Amino acid sequence: MNIELKYFTGTGNSLKVLNTCRKIFESHGHGTKISEIDFNDDYTVEPDIIGFCFPVYAFGIPRICRKYLKSIKKFSHKQKAFVIITAGDAEESGFSLMECRKLLLKKNCELIYSGVIQMPVNWITSPAPPFTPSKDEAIETIREGVREAEKIAANLINGVKIFHKFSYPKRYTRYRFYMDYLLFKYIGVKFLWRTFRVYDTCNGCGLCSRICPTGSIVIKNKKPACTSTCEQCMRCANFCPENAIYQLHGGDTKGKNRYHEPEFFPVKKICDDLKVE
Ligand SMILES: Cc1cc2nc3c(=O)[nH]c(=O)nc-3n(C[C@H](O)[C@H](O)[C@H](O)COP(=O)(O)O)c2cc1C
Ligand code: SF4
Ligand code: SF4
Repeated sequence: MNIELKYFTGTGNSLKVLNTCRKIFESHGHGTKISEIDFNDDYTVEPDIIGFCFPVYAFGIPRICRKYLKSIKKFSHKQKAFVIITAGDAEESGFSLMECRKLLLKKNCELIYSGVIQMPVNWITSPAPPFTPSKDEAIETIREGVREAEKIAANLINGVKIFHKFSYPKRYTRYRFYMDYLLFKYIGVKFLWRTFRVYDTCNGCGLCSRICPTGSIVIKNKKPACTSTCEQCMRCANFCPENAIYQLHGGDTKGKNRYHEPEFFPVKKICDDLKVE
């Protein structure tokens, strides 16, 4: 089989999960291709299966993933697809898989699997727990996540169909859950970029601007400024070598753990030059 794998990631979790699946598929003799979502994707060479992996943002999928799934062509035949969501808490994937399912059905996709994998939390500007983990905690969570990804890949190869659709987070009231989802989707992601700030420790190195997956940071007078295409992926804040990025209104990041998947260096050369770990 030819399996095309597509991801969006801020800090490498979703890529790690998909790469883990990829290794299992390849070890069983399947051909794979893995790449970041790209609005020029046209799927002219139709794969046997397309697999997507996205993080969950406030119980939904990132705005850019929603736009991407809306932008792809409607397949002329039933296109097999699977979706994996990475979440800071496997119980808190909310509507994310339902959103993907709805959008993919409109594109004539047949969903053959949908699952959630818990990976370390990367939302460093979140004022509420769970907070970004320590290195040791992160390593343990990644290990578990990789095991889950291997299981999902094995299930896919063996034709086992499991559909995780919705999970309602137990520690939230129903009102708070719906409000957080709607607020982030319709207001938060359109507004939070305005709250981007840097502490005095920022030295204007420009790394944040170079690694931002949506090209949302511009450097003006040696200081970064954020623009409206920001998806809140937290890559910049977690990679900044000076720990300088924060947000107004409770998005303080001083003293918090920085997290990215240990093998993920979005622009390796720049990170190496700046000795980012
Ligand atoms: C803006 C934002 C919102 C998030 N919301 C949730 C959430 O609702 N539920 C959850 O379990 N994790 C949430 N997280 C955590 C991420 O989904 C999780 O860390 C994910 O694995 C990150 O994947 P990535 O490294 O591929 O970007 C959120 C993270 C961010 C940045
Ligand atoms: S990466 Fe950090 S130190 Fe460098 S320009 Fe961006 S905010 Fe400033
Ligand atoms: S500005 Fe930062 S949080 Fe926003 S999309 Fe770019 S890297 Fe992600």
